[in-house]
Amino acid sequence: AAAMKLVRFIARSAALASAPTHIEHFSKFSPSPLSMKQFLDFGSINACEKTSFVFLRQELPVRLSNIMKEINLLPGRLLTTPSVQMVQSWYIQSLMEILEFDKNPDDHKVLGEFVDALVTIRNRHNDVVPTMAQGILEYKEAFPQDPVTNQNIQYFLDRFYTSRISIRMLINQHTLIFDGSANPVHPNTIGSIAPHCQVGDVVQDAFHSAKMLCDQYYLCSPDLVLQEMSAGEKKPPISIVYVPSHLYHMLFELFKNAMRATIETHENSDQLPPVHVMVALGDEDVSIKVSDTGGGVPFRKIENLFSYMYSTAPAPQIGQHARTPLAGFGYGLPISRLYAKYFQGDLQLYSMEGHGTDAVIYLKALSTDSIERLPVYNKTALKNYRLRQEADDWCVPSKEPLDLSSYKVP
Ligand SMILES: Nc1ncnc2c1ncn2[C@@H]1O[C@H](COP(=O)(O)OP(=O)(O)OP(=O)(O)O)[C@@H](O)[C@H]1O
Ligand SMILES: [Mg+2]
Repeated sequence: AAAMKLVRFIARSAALASAPTHIEHFSKFSPSPLSMKQFLDFGSINACEKTSFVFLRQELPVRLSNIMKEINLLPGRLLTTPSVQMVQSWYIQSLMEILEFDKNPDDHKVLGEFVDALVTIRNRHNDVVPTMAQGILEYKEAFPQDPVTNQNIQYFLDRFYTSRISIRMLINQHTLIFDGSANPVHPNTIGSIAPHCQVGDVVQDAFHSAKMLCDQYYLCSPDLVLQEMSAGEKKPPISIVYVPSHLYHMLFELFKNAMRATIETHENSDQLPPVHVMVALGDEDVSIKVSDTGGGVPFRKIENLFSYMYSTAPAPQIGQHARTPLAGFGYGLPISRLYAKYFQGDLQLYSMEGHGTDAVIYLKALSTDSIERLPVYNKTALKNYRLRQEADDWCVPSKEPLDLSSYKVP
């Protein structure tokens, strides 16, 4: 038995040692973005598990390898933190596990094992976001921040988390559609996609959850005023082809922020102003505006709200009072924006300091426009990691009053 164990250990190490070669190979391919329509086709009546299997055993290694090349470009002092090392080892292991499926797709057993393998991989990567955040924290504590590194890390994490969202999307679709059972909770969804996702319903759900959390902590919460508007023939309720869990995630984050701001600026008044939501449908966009009167944010700070480096909250110390559950890592906004952008939408904040904030989620109204937006590792990406320590091309105003004596004509 010990000999067997040793043989297995050697085989495993040999497999891991070959990882760089595989990463090199698969990173040469560009990821293939799927449209909502293609996602739906994989799961429609003529859903073919074999086709999905053959697609994924190529596409998952491609997406994993593309982003693994970028992990390697992180500053050495960040790359070598235990947290980032851990994340990297998860990626290598998952890549190798998928590559083992170089097997006959006609074999039912193989297809079943593939679903199991994907579930294992999905679980392995559950904690990637907090683990990565921990790595950033360790790095931040050890080294003073400089704007160039901050810019690189922002660039990397936006791409890394987008890649992760997309890989989980592929895994979820395959496992939900082909695990042999209909989705009992949401019979009308195809995998995680709702062909008729009613935006207003998701708004209500997300608001309700945020409200419960808010009530628990502050013993009060603002109400919701929801309006829907649509141009043209389509009458409300507005619906789109979308992943309800993604939309819920974004709205939940926006509502937590809006509620916290509202309560903290209206502490002393006996009536909390409501949070207004407007859902609008046009020919091209579905826009969802969340408006609060929570005092707003100064314009100068808006960009930083989306920064992973600036907003990573200090790690909670043992024994210290828990922070409000309405605010955690400071990843609420940046990750929500990635979800919006993933299907070609966006998320923007328009704030008026002294009054309140409008947060707008833009989504594509047409499923033909909802196509995955994916990072690709290439020369342009590589260039973006090269340090750019160039001088600013806008003047830096001096804090000192100008000494005019030196300009005096003798
Ligand atoms: N509607 C808002 N009104 C006022 N300030 C806001 C609003 N939304 C966000 N902010 C500010 O932006 C910061 C970042 O928001 P973000 O949601 O990204 O992180 P967070 O709320 O601090 O933590 P979490 O990760 O739990 O969301 C908040 O801490 C808050 O200071
Ligand atoms: Mg938040």
